[in-house]
Amino acid sequence: MKLTIDDVRSRFIKHLGGEPGYVYASPGRINLIGEHTDYNEGFVFPGAVEQGMIAEIRPNGTRTIRAYSIDLKDYDEFSIDDEKGPKASHFRYLFGVAREMMKLGVPVEGFDTAFAGDVPLGAGMSSSAALESTYAYAINDLFGENKIASMDLAKVGQATEHNYLGLNCGIMDQFASVHGKKGNLMRLDCRSGEFEYFPWEPKGYRLVLVNSCVKHELAGSPYNDRRNSCERVAKALGMPSLRGASMEQLEAIKAQISEEDYKRAKYVIGEEARVYAVCDALQKGDYETVGQKMYETHEGLSKDYEVSCEELDFLNDVAKDCGVTGSRIMGGGFGGCTINLVEDHLYDTFTKTVKEQFKAKYGKEPIVIDVVIGDGARRLC
Ligand code: GLA
Repeated sequence: MKLTIDDVRSRFIKHLGGEPGYVYASPGRINLIGEHTDYNEGFVFPGAVEQGMIAEIRPNGTRTIRAYSIDLKDYDEFSIDDEKGPKASHFRYLFGVAREMMKLGVPVEGFDTAFAGDVPLGAGMSSSAALESTYAYAINDLFGENKIASMDLAKVGQATEHNYLGLNCGIMDQFASVHGKKGNLMRLDCRSGEFEYFPWEPKGYRLVLVNSCVKHELAGSPYNDRRNSCERVAKALGMPSLRGASMEQLEAIKAQISEEDYKRAKYVIGEEARVYAVCDALQKGDYETVGQKMYETHEGLSKDYEVSCEELDFLNDVAKDCGVTGSRIMGGGFGGCTINLVEDHLYDTFTKTVKEQFKAKYGKEPIVIDVVIGDGARRLC
């Protein structure tokens, strides 16, 4: 993380006054494969990144949170007992986490806090999960004697999205932000909650994000619409979720569902198979297959799930033309980044070409981010 403890501490003292408190941090995430599978009870393959959120927090002995956003230069204070909470979304994350921790029986009290982040907003790297995880972890540490299990901290972040931001997201982002481990990706079974760490050390390849800087707005209907489609199809199949559904089963009910719901489910069923294929390929060190599956995921997200946009499809085409091993939309979609599996020797050509060609077409350079897999939620001091 580029931000230091001193960066956040000096702002905290300036805007909140008094003595220092404690500093916590949580990361954003990438995801190798398994997109829009989490809320379908499937598998995901995320890893935490080095970029994240950092917050200074000091209990203040009242029932009020006094919060300063360093990046947005915005201050607000709000009671943890007033159900309405603050209006601005950047404060609703903190408020929601505090309220959800209270629901779990944690004796949350008021606190003074300042926070900042270096996860690019709207890049699909989950800055919001980083913020939620920072506060869930901190509240557990400061008021809850660390009694809440890590998976429940992730669920607190997810419930915050559902209940305070109106986004019916899955568990992937908050899971990754809490559980991340340097140098490791994680495969999570979103049905059972079981997960495994996978050391990520591909010889001769690297992961590179290309941020289109097109902003996506997930906290609205498009994401929730996708989820609703999946749930309608699962219901028509008589299954609790699309996990484990086959293309044959889907074909058999095609006449009963809308064309749109059919396409959404087709993508999800295909993605489940791709996650298994990627796990197999990784075990054999077969990165060509991993990359091929990433391209297939992009195709599905673009044509059937319809969460791509012109700019992301363009980035994907440029990657293909440059001979990049794998490339696809990462995260919820509707803008943000592509994730690319690039052979070391192609890195310079690819990053130069993608910047030039994107700029020539859209008037501004996309931002290239070299992925470094980092640690999950933690206390820094
Ligand atoms: C967003 C959501 C996640 C997940 C991804 C798509 O990041 O927060 O739960 O559904 O989109 O894979």
